[in-house]
Amino acid sequence: MLKVKDVHKSFGELKVLEGVNLEVNKRERVGIIGPNGAGKTTLFNIISGFLRPDDGKVIFKNKNVVGLRPNQLAKMGLVRTFQIVKVFSNMTVEENILTISSDLDYLKDFGLWEKRREIAANLSYGELRKLSIALAIASNPKLLLLDEPFSGLSPKEARELADIIRDIHYNGQSIAIIEHRLSDLFDVAEKVLVLNSGKIIFEGQPDEVVREKSVIEAYLGKKYAKVFA
Ligand SMILES: Nc1ncnc2c1ncn2[C@@H]1O[C@H](COP(=O)(O)OP(=O)(O)OP(=O)(O)O)[C@@H](O)[C@H]1O
Ligand SMILES: [Mg+2]
Repeated sequence: MLKVKDVHKSFGELKVLEGVNLEVNKRERVGIIGPNGAGKTTLFNIISGFLRPDDGKVIFKNKNVVGLRPNQLAKMGLVRTFQIVKVFSNMTVEENILTISSDLDYLKDFGLWEKRREIAANLSYGELRKLSIALAIASNPKLLLLDEPFSGLSPKEARELADIIRDIHYNGQSIAIIEHRLSDLFDVAEKVLVLNSGKIIFEGQPDEVVREKSVIEAYLGKKYAKVFA
């Protein structure tokens, strides 16, 4: 479905990605973790056409898509959400969906059916997050990129969203998720890649990642220290 091959990206002197390789197979849910500033969002920006890599390839559906614009990629089925929620806040929930699809059943899958006549601006943060992901799903993507979908959610909202993400396999789409909230991510991801200073330092199943020494040193150690401070 997606192959990122030896991608490099610098902003001026700052090397942000240094030879990143990544593969997402059909129907696979892949997690991407790593410290702040590791280059995770930059990687998504490159995959989704918002940024051009200095070097390397992004192969989507067997085609090198470097140079294609985000809207061209979205038409091919590569869709992303942002760290900041983007919906039409002055429209109702169902009007938001109708801008993308005539099928309102997506709202049932996302637990938003009861709220369909509500103006989006009146939704809770968790509902807004669900709506933004429902919008992405309504465009029928083959590959969905989610940047920190759990951030800002209560534990209950996060659990609900994790259940939804695990269940949404319309047309067998694949999902890649950037996330700092690891217990929520590990609920949904089958494979996890760890990005540190622009390099993938480990790839494995969630239970392997948390035991890996290099990952604990680069990321988890600091994170757990913060949690228990
Ligand atoms: N457009 C840009 N111009 C210059 N520097 C940038 C740009 N975008 C990102 N950076 C820098 O690149 C580095 C990686 O940023 P990126 O947003 O990819 O990190 P991240 O892994 O997503 O971090 P976080 O977990 O905090 O979201 C950071 O040092 C950031 O300041
Ligand atoms: Mg980021």
